Amino acid sequence: MEPQTTIDLTRLAAVMQKPPLFAPGDSFIWSDPHIAKQMLAVHLDQSTDLASRRTETIDRTVAWILDALDLTAGDALLDLGCGPGLYTSRFAAAGLTVTGVDLSANSLAYAREHDPASTYLQQNYVELDVPAAAFDAVTLIFGDFCVLSDAARDALLRRVVRALKPGGAFICDVTTPTFAATLPTGRDWTLETAGGFWKPGPHLVLEQPFTYPEHNTTVTQYVVLTDDGQTTLYRNWLHHYSPETLTAVLNAAGLTVTGTYGDLTGAAYTPDGDWLGIIARKPEA
Ligand SMILES: C[S@@+](CC[C@H](N)C(=O)[O-])C[C@H]1O[C@@H](n2cnc3c(N)ncnc32)[C@H](O)[C@@H]1O
Repeated sequence: MEPQTTIDLTRLAAVMQKPPLFAPGDSFIWSDPHIAKQMLAVHLDQSTDLASRRTETIDRTVAWILDALDLTAGDALLDLGCGPGLYTSRFAAAGLTVTGVDLSANSLAYAREHDPASTYLQQNYVELDVPAAAFDAVTLIFGDFCVLSDAARDALLRRVVRALKPGGAFICDVTTPTFAATLPTGRDWTLETAGGFWKPGPHLVLEQPFTYPEHNTTVTQYVVLTDDGQTTLYRNWLHHYSPETLTAVLNAAGLTVTGTYGDLTGAAYTPDGDWLGIIARKPEA
């Protein structure tokens, strides 16, 4: 007879309740060892914008940032959550002195191999540890700002302000409440009998969204059950911002917003757009 697997239904019922705002999961998709191995392929996949945007958008984004911030050869740029270095390598090719920060050893190995001119640091950017007043620009690209709790976001902003030179620019993009309204609202499940994205062996994924309208926040929760009876909980939090709410947060951190856009290629901002790009500056000394 086949060995039987026991599922702890009490724990399952507990983890499927609506979680408190920004409560973490058991594991984090960017540092989970099995997921990290596949993430590089997802970053580089030109058929999807899941982990990074497509090359054509990245090229236009880098060109626009260089122009909008008037960056020239020798200027220092810090890219937070640089992943495999798709932006950093292009900024370096334009002559900037570039530092990339990411949690993922796998992505950083790729970045270092393809862009030896830049400096790559494996750090949690919420605890960013770089020299003070050293950077003309700090970038945080592809909505990473949105995954942070208010406390983590404000901790990150304190470190960004410290890292910027007087007059330096912080640039990031965030999702809007319009984007939030496009997210799936129903429960879903997937059975992978031969392993897949979440786990190397057979697993069942129970997907469930929750919304926190009073905080403009959504979470998609993935409960992953494996055939040894284990459950692993992943949560993908997204705090969505309007120009007003993002400006208030940046102002509170001591930054002044100098430009609001529909994305980081310089498109005009419209209230019905999914994305919001922003440039904010540290005051001149
Ligand atoms: C959505 S990807 C975007 C990567 C890159 N900005 C791009 O657009 O190609 C998010 C990246 O941020 C990294 N990351 C997530 N949280 C982080 C943290 N707290 N500290 C450092 N890196 C983090 C992940 O490892 C991943 O490479």
